[in-house]
Amino acid sequence: MDPVKNPYAPGAGTRPPELAGRQEILDAAGIAIQRVQAGRFAKSFIFIGLRGVGKTVLLNEVTRIAERLGCNTSPPKV
Ligand SMILES: Nc1ncnc2c1ncn2[C@@H]1O[C@H](COP(=O)(O)OP(=O)(O)OP(=O)(O)O)[C@@H](O)[C@H]1O
Ligand SMILES: [Mg+2]
Repeated sequence: MDPVKNPYAPGAGTRPPELAGRQEILDAAGIAIQRVQAGRFAKSFIFIGLRGVGKTVLLNEVTRIAERLGCNTSPPKV
């Protein structure tokens, strides 16, 4: 295996080369964000699961979607 092209990239929150099997969740998150932007009701999300199942990667991806939709995702300054 060419180490430069090796797709195996383990790490906490590391974006994988292919975010497998999560499109439905990401679509639902995008819809929820747009509904809130339009002043409509949307259910909150909580990602739960075993260690390493991909919660942090999903949260980071939802952050990217929110930024693309024009949201400010910076943490509040205290
Ligand atoms: N859908 C996916 N497809 C492929 N690889 C994934 C997927 N989700 C996560 N991974 C990979 O799995 C690893 C662990 O992901 P992540 O750190 O998001 O897990 P976690 O659930 O937040 O773990 P922890 O419970 O330890 O915080 C990372 O290397 C990530 O790239
Ligand atoms: Mg995590």
